Amino acid sequence: MSRLRLGVNIDHVATVRNARGGTTPDPMRAAEIALAAGADGVTAHLREDRRHISDADMDALAAITRRRGLPLNFEMAVTAEMEAIALSHRPHACCLVAERREELTTEGGLDVAKGLAAVAPVIGRLVQAGIRVSCFIDPDPAQVAASKAAGAQVVELHVGPYCDAVRERAPDAGARLAALQAAAAEAARLGLEVHAGHGIDYETVKAIAAIPELAELNIGHFLVGEAIFVGLAAAIQRMRALMDAARAEQAA
Ligand code: PXP
Repeated sequence: MSRLRLGVNIDHVATVRNARGGTTPDPMRAAEIALAAGADGVTAHLREDRRHISDADMDALAAITRRRGLPLNFEMAVTAEMEAIALSHRPHACCLVAERREELTTEGGLDVAKGLAAVAPVIGRLVQAGIRVSCFIDPDPAQVAASKAAGAQVVELHVGPYCDAVRERAPDAGARLAALQAAAAEAARLGLEVHAGHGIDYETVKAIAAIPELAELNIGHFLVGEAIFVGLAAAIQRMRALMDAARAEQAA
C-alpha cells in the first residue's frame, strides 16, 4: 500500500480574510505552515465568482510551491477562463470540478460521462502542458470509466455524502463507504491514481484512509476550522497521524 499523501486546501483561510476585505489571515502564510507541518501539497479552488481564493492568491501560491518544489493542486471548473489560468501557471495538478454559482460548496461530482465530449479536449490540453489531471467524481463506475476515457490520470472520489452520512448517523453510511471502496478498486484496475476529498474530519478520515487504493486525500474546511482552536500545524499533524494509524491498522 502506498503512503497516503495529504493535500491541504487553504480556500477557507481566504474566506475569513474576505469577510473583512483586508489582507489577514493570509492564505500564503497558511500554505507555508501547512507545508512545514507535513502537508504533501497545497490545494486551492479558484471559483468563477472568486468568493475565496483570488487570482493574486493563485499567482502567489504557484510561486511558493514552485520555489519549494512542492505540488500545487489547482481545483477548477471546466471553463475556457480556468483552462487559460491553469495553462499560464502549469501547476503540478489540476482537479476538474463541477461548479454552480449558487452552491455553498462543491455539491456533486463532475458528470464526466455526460460531458465527455467537452471535458476530454480540456484534459488533453492540460496533460499536454505537463499537468496531472484529476476528475472529481461521485463513486459511480460509469464516472470512473468516463474519466479514464477522457484521458484523466487521476480520479478524486467525492466522499462528502459519506462524511455527511457518518455525521448524521444515517443508515446508508455503510453503503456509501462500500460504493467508495468499489469505485476506488475499479479506478485502480483501470490504471487511474485514486484520491478522495470533501468533508473529511477526524472521525471520517479513518475508514477513508483505510481504502487501500487511495494515494491522496484533500482536506480543507475541517482543518481550517480546527485551526481556530488548536492552530493549523497541530490540526494537520493530528490528521496526518490518524491517516497513518488507519493505514498501519489496515496493513497489520
Ligand atoms: N476536493 C475537492 C475537489 C473539493 O472541491 C474540495 C472543496 O473545495 C475539497 C477536496 C476539500 O473539501 P473540504 O474543504 O470539505 O475538506
